[in-house]
Amino acid sequence: MSKNNINNTQVYAIFGDPVEHSKSPQMHNSAFEFLNLDAVYKKHHLKDGKKLKEEFLNNLYAGANITVPHKEQAFKQADEVIGIANEIKAANTYIKKDNKVLAYNTDAPGFLKAIESFGNINKVLVIGAGGTAKAISLALKEKGIDVVVVNRSESKLEFFKEKDIKSYSWKDFRLDYFDLVVNSTSAGLKDDKLPMNKSQLENIFLNSSYAFDCIYGKETPFLALAKKEGLETKDGEDMLLFQGVLAFEYFTNTKIDSKTIEIMRKALKEEN
Ligand SMILES: NC(=O)c1ccc[n+]([C@@H]2O[C@H](COP(=O)([O-])OP(=O)(O)OC[C@H]3O[C@@H](n4cnc5c(N)ncnc54)[C@H](OP(=O)(O)O)[C@@H]3O)[C@@H](O)[C@H]2O)c1
Repeated sequence: MSKNNINNTQVYAIFGDPVEHSKSPQMHNSAFEFLNLDAVYKKHHLKDGKKLKEEFLNNLYAGANITVPHKEQAFKQADEVIGIANEIKAANTYIKKDNKVLAYNTDAPGFLKAIESFGNINKVLVIGAGGTAKAISLALKEKGIDVVVVNRSESKLEFFKEKDIKSYSWKDFRLDYFDLVVNSTSAGLKDDKLPMNKSQLENIFLNSSYAFDCIYGKETPFLALAKKEGLETKDGEDMLLFQGVLAFEYFTNTKIDSKTIEIMRKALKEEN
């Protein structure tokens, strides 16, 4: 029998490989504490994604977040997939309801919430074609915003073509006007690379107003260049925060207020 069946405490977890670096536990636990809820949120290192649902159920978790590389397995194994996760075919949130595992994707709406602080946006360039690019571009498309995807390699563009999203590899990309340019690649995460070549990016920035990087906690070369070219910039902290806020609302079936959101934001900034 699971160790999480001791009392009425609701237990939540984040599944990932690796998971040690995750700031989700400190973010969720700070809100549980602030709202005086009998709940705890743990890290759950999972290597074999095929065992995700089994582990989720065996540990009697009330809910969970799922991070790299298991979001596609989370989608596949859920009993019911709700909302935009069906389009993205990846889920980052599980909740258990009436003995069923329900799956959501809160990365996509979290991104939309994060860019609300920018002005009016009609056309967006998304650099990258991985899981995050899929979530972001579908969320923007659902909002009626024009999206173009550009990626280093061609092989990942099929998904976007199927969804009627314009997508190009670097060599086929043609310069255009974009209100917002998003770096959804991992360039700049653990290195000092730009997500496209510098002169191409400079030309793109000449006709843009805002730059957003999904990477958080540092000023990436992408954001530094955008800032130098006079764009308003933002890193991925709010995206992480708001995907967590939305997941928390699913976990607790409540709408959380701005004070709790600020508690969660503060917790994110703490070392883990
Ligand atoms: N703030 C948040 O809440 C949040 C949430 C999710 C993800 N993220 C961040 O978003 C980034 C992408 O995550 P993901 O899950 O979408 O990754 P992913 O599925 O592995 O996709 C990575 C993408 O980056 C491109 N890429 C990698 N290195 C590159 C380089 N040096 N130059 C140009 N393109 C490069 C890849 O291009 P190829 O196809 O050519 O390989 C691919 O399109 C990560 O940095 C992650 O930390 C942030």
